[in-house]
Amino acid sequence: MNTEIIKVDPEHVGDAEAELQHAGEILKKGGLVAFPTETVYGLGGDALNPEASKKIYAAKGRPSDNPLIVHIADMEHLYPIVKKVPEAAKRLAAKYWPGPLTMIFEKTDLVPYETSGGLPTVAVRMPVHPVAAALIRAEGGYIAAPSANTSGRPSPTIAQHVIEDLNGKIDMIIDGGQVNIGLESTIVDFTEDVPVILRPGYINKEMLEEVLGEVKIDPGILDANANKGIRPKAPGMKYRHYAPKCDLTIVEGSPEAVIAKINELSSAEMAKGKKVGIIATDETRGRYHADDIRDIGSRTDDKEIARHLFEVLRDFDEDKVDVAFSESFDTPRMGMAIMNRLLKAAGHHVISV
Ligand code: TXA
Ligand code: MG
Repeated sequence: MNTEIIKVDPEHVGDAEAELQHAGEILKKGGLVAFPTETVYGLGGDALNPEASKKIYAAKGRPSDNPLIVHIADMEHLYPIVKKVPEAAKRLAAKYWPGPLTMIFEKTDLVPYETSGGLPTVAVRMPVHPVAAALIRAEGGYIAAPSANTSGRPSPTIAQHVIEDLNGKIDMIIDGGQVNIGLESTIVDFTEDVPVILRPGYINKEMLEEVLGEVKIDPGILDANANKGIRPKAPGMKYRHYAPKCDLTIVEGSPEAVIAKINELSSAEMAKGKKVGIIATDETRGRYHADDIRDIGSRTDDKEIARHLFEVLRDFDEDKVDVAFSESFDTPRMGMAIMNRLLKAAGHHVISV
């Protein structure tokens, strides 16, 4: 299949009306279009068309029990696809929609089981990215979109990542430049008595608590439970996602001890003839010795660290790095979201010093 690749400037979406109309037509006919959102690039199909959802699973190589998020652009489109919206969810939507937040509700018959991965519930998100919002409206209201990567690879944060994974497999890729957040949306489940975080993201626990009061964290996503067989409620969280091809280890502890340990480990690997990658920060990059040292950003700005994480993991693949070491990023603002992805990428392999 020939994949059409078009560029749309998020600041001037109005200039691309004809192109976005065309993309909307492709979706209405059951085709697939990858597009930028503020979190990561999404692979879009008509959420109400079971055949389109099947095509999404096939293009990604995704297990069909892993449900898709339905993206909407206007609040009035929420009510037809869900049975009820609790007051707390309405408050959260008023504060954080459009934005990097996904909420889970009981679904109506309008949402096919192909889209919900066989579940009686549906995940809904209203992205704030202007290209995403314009595309959803051009499509008619409901776009199912997982992250636009091959299943198991890090989520795409630039169009080039989507091209690497999906060129030739889908109808169109819309290049809207680099995304802003770089980690997938926070998922909050409203089908239980107390709202539960199923996936941490940019909207963190404190921000949710301000609006909702008590909020729980799904025990299945906590690092402490990783090897105890406690299953995450979001089916996608159980897969070893975000995995680079290299063998990644996280080293945690005081900054000086971490630097010394990573240098010791990387020297040993290099002596064996391995190509070594290191995930460092602005503050530490000059302190390491290895083949491929990647500066992920400054510790004073963990949003920058989040934005670059998946890109660095993909770069290691591109550079054919064999073994990689990373500092730990248990930062206050986005630390939970960053470490959730980094720990999975490392297969929960952590060394404490
Ligand atoms: O930021 C994002 O959410 C991006 C952009 C494209 O919007 N999308 C995204 O989709 O990350 P995906 O498919 O890669 O991740 C969706 C996650 C999976 O872990 C899936 O299992 C979970 O949401 N999920 C979807 N529907 C669910 C449901 N009804 N119940 C529990 N988990 C659900
Ligand atoms: Mg994904």
